[in-house]
Amino acid sequence: MLTPNQTSKFQMFITRSGFHPIITYICGWLVVIMLLHIPSAQAIPLNGSQLFEAQCAGCHAGGGNIVRRGKNLKLKALQKNKVDTQEAIVNLITVGKGNMSAYADRLTPEEIQTVSAYVLAQAAQNWKSE
Ligand code: HEC
Repeated sequence: MLTPNQTSKFQMFITRSGFHPIITYICGWLVVIMLLHIPSAQAIPLNGSQLFEAQCAGCHAGGGNIVRRGKNLKLKALQKNKVDTQEAIVNLITVGKGNMSAYADRLTPEEIQTVSAYVLAQAAQNWKSE
């Protein structure tokens, strides 16, 4: 059995531990503010796969090349055409080549690095996860 004194202590505890309307109100606003600070989809950098699908897959789906078949993104072709290093691929994407346009104005240098690394990684595993 609670004595009257204990009951009021219990009530004070309840009041102070978050059930008070003002505490609830403040917590509610904190949640709203936190939700507003979740970065929008655009602010999250795209990964290599997403960049490739958006910018390159139109011509290079699955590591192929619908425009010039021999200039595909399979390891053998990259080696033959001497674009089998990160640096060479970054350069080709940045300045373009033949019927492939330059991406310097469409992708940031970081995105070009990311998508180049993705191309090399996919070539190394023969585009199996595509
Ligand atoms: C409009 C079609 C098109 C798009 C889109 C495109 N490419 Fe290309 N790509 C080509 C063509 C055509 C070539 C061959 C260029 C040449 O050597 O004449 C090529 C060549 C390449 C090569 C060299 C392949 C080899 O074996 O020599 C790489 C690497 C490459 N592209 C990567 C990319 C990446 C990464 C993207 C996306 C950022 C992309 N391409 C977007 C058409 C395209």
